[in-house]
Amino acid sequence: MTSLVPTPSTEVAAALLDDLRDARRGAAALPALQPDSYARDHAAFERRSDQRGLIADHLAGRLAELGDGPLSVLSVGCGDGTLDVRLAEGLVRAVPGRPVRYVGIEPWSGSAGLFTAEMAALGARELSAEVQVASFADAVVDETFDAVVFVHSIYYVADLELTLRKALALVRPGGQLWVLNAPRAALNALVDVLAPPLDDHRQWFSSDVAEAFHATGIVLDEISTLDALVELAPAGDDVLDFAVQARLTPELRRPVRAYLDAVSVPGADGEPHVPHPVDVFVATRL
Ligand SMILES: C[S@@+](CC[C@H](N)C(=O)[O-])C[C@H]1O[C@@H](n2cnc3c(N)ncnc32)[C@H](O)[C@@H]1O
Repeated sequence: MTSLVPTPSTEVAAALLDDLRDARRGAAALPALQPDSYARDHAAFERRSDQRGLIADHLAGRLAELGDGPLSVLSVGCGDGTLDVRLAEGLVRAVPGRPVRYVGIEPWSGSAGLFTAEMAALGARELSAEVQVASFADAVVDETFDAVVFVHSIYYVADLELTLRKALALVRPGGQLWVLNAPRAALNALVDVLAPPLDDHRQWFSSDVAEAFHATGIVLDEISTLDALVELAPAGDDVLDFAVQARLTPELRRPVRAYLDAVSVPGADGEPHVPHPVDVFVATRL
């Protein structure tokens, strides 16, 4: 059971976060992460976490259950397709001969190109994959899908409620909308303090997504959490910057590392790991 009594390390973490907040108060925003290095740094970050595997396992089985006929998936903010390729491969393998249509939406053309190339490299006859280079708000989609999936991408949309409504409208009746997003837990408390604002809004975390679902009246079938861990102590500066979603200055790196150390828990190998949970929201289109 979780203890509600503050431990010395949670008090240290809170004090370090306050210090960082004080240091940033009134300062110019830190530089944002750049699109050309984003996918590379993201991949390096994910290699230090067990979250990708947990997401892939969780999604693969559920998507495969959406039927044994032709299956279509829309992945919004698909990035370089690392996760989607794994899911597509699993779907093709789950029911041999079943046609699988996989569509990505991704604003950064470099990542979108990698998505298409990786899907093609699977060499699966049953799989057709394409990507639209656009933000979700600008994307024009004139078909519906068995599943519409956002994995770690809804943080960046300008309007959550509009996004959820548009996304559900792209799900065929009986199909599902999946939104996987991080809570504002220990790791993302840093993002809140350090990341520059995105087009006039901060990054949306799970509580914002839950409120937006509620405001739209979309009924959720499931809200669950996958408890992952990420090992950041040995990580280089680029991974650290990805973790806080900003290019840190050299002076900020030491207190950020001290904070991450304070919020760490022992992993299976006994080494310190930062909790890296992801929340899963699922709604069925009626
Ligand atoms: C953290 S990455 C996740 C990529 C992929 N879904 C995965 O899990 O590996 C977030 C992705 O969302 C994309 N993105 C940012 N703003 C977006 C928007 N307005 N609409 C759609 N995608 C967006 C980014 O370019 C990036 O590829």
